[in-house]
Amino acid sequence: MPQTIAVLDFGSQYTQVIARRIRESQVYSKIYHYKTPASKLREDDVIGIILSGGPSSVFAKTAPIPDREIFNLGVPVLGICYGIQLLSFLLGGRASRSKQREFGNGTLTVTKPGRLFGKLPRKLQVWNSHGDKVIKLPEGFTAIGTTENSPFAAIEDRKRNFFGIQFHPEVFHTERGVEIIRNFLVRVCKAEQDWTTKDFIAHSVKEIKKQVGKSRVILGLSGGVDSSVAAALLHKAIRKQLVCVFVDNGLLRAGEREAVESLYKRNFKIDLRVVDASSLFLRRLKGVEDPELKRKIIGNTFVEVFEKSLKTIGKADYLAQGTLYPDVIESVAIGDNPASLIKSHHNVGGLPERMKLKLVEPLRELFKDEVREVGAALGLPKEVVWRQPFPGPGLGVRVAGDITKARLKVLRGADTILTEEMKKSGWYWKVWQSFAVFLPVKSVGVIGDERNYADVIALRIVGSKDAMTADWTRLPYDLLQLISNRITNEVEGVSRVVYDVSSKPPATIEWE
Ligand code: XMP
Repeated sequence: MPQTIAVLDFGSQYTQVIARRIRESQVYSKIYHYKTPASKLREDDVIGIILSGGPSSVFAKTAPIPDREIFNLGVPVLGICYGIQLLSFLLGGRASRSKQREFGNGTLTVTKPGRLFGKLPRKLQVWNSHGDKVIKLPEGFTAIGTTENSPFAAIEDRKRNFFGIQFHPEVFHTERGVEIIRNFLVRVCKAEQDWTTKDFIAHSVKEIKKQVGKSRVILGLSGGVDSSVAAALLHKAIRKQLVCVFVDNGLLRAGEREAVESLYKRNFKIDLRVVDASSLFLRRLKGVEDPELKRKIIGNTFVEVFEKSLKTIGKADYLAQGTLYPDVIESVAIGDNPASLIKSHHNVGGLPERMKLKLVEPLRELFKDEVREVGAALGLPKEVVWRQPFPGPGLGVRVAGDITKARLKVLRGADTILTEEMKKSGWYWKVWQSFAVFLPVKSVGVIGDERNYADVIALRIVGSKDAMTADWTRLPYDLLQLISNRITNEVEGVSRVVYDVSSKPPATIEWE
């Protein structure tokens, strides 16, 4: 095991963010269930412990309480939010319900900088979210920082290297929060800061091998960043035991299937099975105009085709998925069986349970940008690593209204030109998504002296951080003109190109 910082999870929505901040300081961290026995942490060579925040109150009957022996391991402990209450509660101090719930921004006044705050300014904007507060310090502790509502907003036991902070240093809104965490890691825990993406890969390879042994693993490859990186990582670990399945649903962008085949079959020599189910998908979608119904049909057909394809592959015990942290709806049940509540939304239509497949999700603790770094380090090309998101239902939700082969052909033609020009001008890499939409209306145009009653293409180009909100991109007029000219000249059947200037909300990114 590398030098490990244990993050004990008490159900905070920020636990993964703490782990991420630790990785940003190039230190390895692992999230443990709050009940993990101290002996296990000792076994794992843990050099420091962070107690996460959590939704509970230490006074609640069901309050999650860790193994008290963790305080006797001789390693530094940092309690954050709920963690500081725990420290006080378990080590002989007192916490109480605060009259003033502190939520949102506050000002921390550092009274004793010590190792935790070091050279940071004496006043810091910090982000709070708590109802309880410490009212009496446990023996050995002193206050090192205060806020408007709390004389014990930051506390320290110098001898035992225990620290508690009431605010959340891991969130973006806390000024210099990353440095506070780094001070704990480096100055208190003496972490060496040598954990890199390469180490992550080596460690994951070892873990995957340990988890799957000699079993075969199936992975549904979509061509997107997450499944691509997962495939490359799994392949590095278990080579021929990995079988990837790529379903052509007839709703892919032009050349997509070929690009996936050439990348994985030729360059990586991955066992890739391409299933052409395009006719089946298009047959089922015939005449369907309702977007939700389209999605349902596409989703169900995918599961059916995927499941059928597994039969030809033979016995496998695992299903691998490129689930990332933001995909994981994670909540620790503050009762008896926490881990059972963890769900993945990518989970292909209940397939794992039905087929008795166990899950392998090597990226589940990472954020998107970290996954991209891993992909690049594994040798995936820029086109894959920096690929824009593409929805599961593909062009099915970009042909508004009835999906026909003819409409798909027009859309693919327009989309290819848009993508080409976006890449050529460098804009492709700057925006969140850029794509064409086929509109189910005709408009009058003129070619030569002839009236041309033909299709309309909308361009949708947006900037976003997480797809929750988005704004339309102010693309240079000249570039828009070039794209529009090329589409109307080169794609037969298009008389008009329009630019979508709606933001999300109130619109969504996709049209359907
Ligand atoms: P909306 O249209 O909801 O899209 O603003 C937000 C982001 O999600 C993508 N998207 C999907 N991805 N399956 C997916 O895997 C879907 O059904 C789906 N619908 C939308 C969309 O491309 C955007 O990035």
